[in-house]
Amino acid sequence: MHTAFSKRILFFAVSFLSCTYLFAQPAPVSREEDDLPKDYLSASFHAGRREALRQMMPDNSVMAVFAYPTRSFSNDVEYLYHASPDMYYFSGYKEPHSLLLIFKNEQTDSAGNTYSEVLFVQKRNAQAEQWTGKRLGAEGAKEKLGIPMSLNGEDFKNFNIDFTKFDKVIFDRLPADVPNDARDKSDLFDMIQLFRQKTALPEDYSKEKKFDNRSYREMTAKLREIKTPEEKDLIRKAVEISCLGQNEVMKAVRPDMSELEIQGLHEYVHKKYGAEGVGYGSIIGSGENGCVLHYEENTKTRVGNSMILMDVGAEYHGYTADVTRTVPAGGKFSDEEKMIYQLVYDAQEAAFKTLKDGSKWADAEKAARDVITEGLIKLGIAKDKAEANKYYPHGLGHHIGMDVHDRGTYTSIKKDMVITIEPGIYISSGSNCDKKWWGIAVRIEDDALITQDGYELLSHFAPRKIEEIEKMISQKSALDNFKLPPLKSAEKKGF
Ligand code: GLY
Ligand code: MN
Ligand code: MN
Repeated sequence: MHTAFSKRILFFAVSFLSCTYLFAQPAPVSREEDDLPKDYLSASFHAGRREALRQMMPDNSVMAVFAYPTRSFSNDVEYLYHASPDMYYFSGYKEPHSLLLIFKNEQTDSAGNTYSEVLFVQKRNAQAEQWTGKRLGAEGAKEKLGIPMSLNGEDFKNFNIDFTKFDKVIFDRLPADVPNDARDKSDLFDMIQLFRQKTALPEDYSKEKKFDNRSYREMTAKLREIKTPEEKDLIRKAVEISCLGQNEVMKAVRPDMSELEIQGLHEYVHKKYGAEGVGYGSIIGSGENGCVLHYEENTKTRVGNSMILMDVGAEYHGYTADVTRTVPAGGKFSDEEKMIYQLVYDAQEAAFKTLKDGSKWADAEKAARDVITEGLIKLGIAKDKAEANKYYPHGLGHHIGMDVHDRGTYTSIKKDMVITIEPGIYISSGSNCDKKWWGIAVRIEDDALITQDGYELLSHFAPRKIEEIEKMISQKSALDNFKLPPLKSAEKKGF
């Protein structure tokens, strides 16, 4: 407080001096932007992505990109809006109720203006903005996103566009469950209705050659699976932040912690480093809970001495990491845990070895699965491949980017892709094997950037080897002294 106050006095003194005596520049005014991150994707990145798309689009075509719908959380409260990845990728616009039209060929309006894309955005509205925050608006979109033909959503109605003249109208499957805010005549619901009218879209448009959902997915997959330098910088940051979260939790974890508390520690570290959120619900599964692949309840109140499977990905400026570490809460792996962990580690290493520009997803998949199958048979846990597959019931990995399961063609692996490699073994109680294995669940998930001759392990910041994990757990954490008073209300009720 004191320091801030002194700074303010100094600021006034300096401004006064500069105004009175220098008559030069006006006193520096602190603008909101001065306190915002400086490493968002640039307008030129988005323009470059539109141009790359245009190169792929068929002649005389238009592509429509709709923002994601908003969703109810409770009564009149909405879920925090997550920017729609395609809208964000091609325009930089992060708000809902928006539509981007990208044209293959330059268009000319009645006033003679030429344009190659039109962005319809939420209209500025002082009352709405007081409740839910500042909107960029059409003028802001022109200035900040560099899209000269940025208009308010309500302008779509009278926007003179003859969709019949295009050979192809390309768009993603239109969502059927878009909420309709009756007070807003140009929300996403209305824009989709108008789009249907203006394009004279038949009910079953999938059969019409002119209306093309397939190439929407194909083109966006081909573009988004290859990461540009700006994207790689943001993903690197998201992954490093996630690893620092894993490391701090490894150092801080104790058997009396709850799954929720561990989730909170990860997400606190993410936010400390500026990550706005997580790219998916954080998975903190202790013991048997680790067998639920996307366990997000995180309700166990004491993790005990079991292993904890922690699959947590920070999202930084729209790009998400996806990193899993499985660690013993008590500090040391048991013999059985070690054997299963080592098997998953070896499977992951086998998959890593296949990775390089031009390698195949199927080869990486096979390399990992063969190690797990053979290992489980050797340990007497499975008798054959089919039984082994039950303990490893998911694929090896996926692209990451603006979506955690990012768009991709999933054929060959290419330079500048960023993918996860995440084998796992999950042995739930009651499985057809010796009881000593029951409740063991291990997933190791890393994020790899594919290079010409191999890969760069972006998630190398968090240890993967058994000894390295045990060593990390033995270290002191900055969070060790983070002690809060007990809840009075819990005491009274005897919880
Ligand atoms: N975190 C979700 C996944 O690993 O695919
Ligand atoms: Mn994953
Ligand atoms: Mn994951």
